[in-house]
Amino acid sequence: MSYKLGEVILSRDTIARRVKELASEIVADNGTDNGLVVVGILTGASFFLTDLVRELPEELDARIDFMSVASYGDGTKTSGVVRIFHDLKSSIEGKNVIIVEDIVDTGLTLSHLLDILKSRKPASLKVCVLLDKYERRQTEVKVDYCGFRIPDKFVVGYGLDCAGKWRHLKDIKYVVEE
Ligand code: PRP
Repeated sequence: MSYKLGEVILSRDTIARRVKELASEIVADNGTDNGLVVVGILTGASFFLTDLVRELPEELDARIDFMSVASYGDGTKTSGVVRIFHDLKSSIEGKNVIIVEDIVDTGLTLSHLLDILKSRKPASLKVCVLLDKYERRQTEVKVDYCGFRIPDKFVVGYGLDCAGKWRHLKDIKYVVEE
């Protein structure tokens, strides 16, 4: 099956405005007196994370770390068992941590990731996702900050890919069958 790009679902301007609002929400909740460890889940979230952290105020001690994970299943379905390819560089014990994801779909990856990171005893652990494909949820997962709730359709751009393609698009677009 081959795919082509469809309509824009979220333009670069819409994304930028929402990213600013999310940063304000995070600062309103957490203040600037305590530090924040922002954990990006590679690869998709790297675009969102770098825009988000640049909207945080200078006086906030924000640190950035990344994890690379993949959830395993039978090829078509994710099992939610997460394998870590690249772990955090620093300990999160006693730190205020926020996980940044590009998309939550079944919720299995995030749910497993939360278990892993909780066991490392952070002072707090929150979740910020850009996109929530809420119709596909298989397990309940608490999302503290959400950019946009979107329908169950294939989207690419701003970090999201189709078999590795189209991550670099500035806008988020639908993908349609050719
Ligand atoms: C995406 C996304 C989440 C996961 C969400 O990652 O970044 O990690 O899928 O799916 P779930 O809620 O059904 O578990 P992907 O495996 O596509 O990796 P990528 O970021 O490298 O593209």
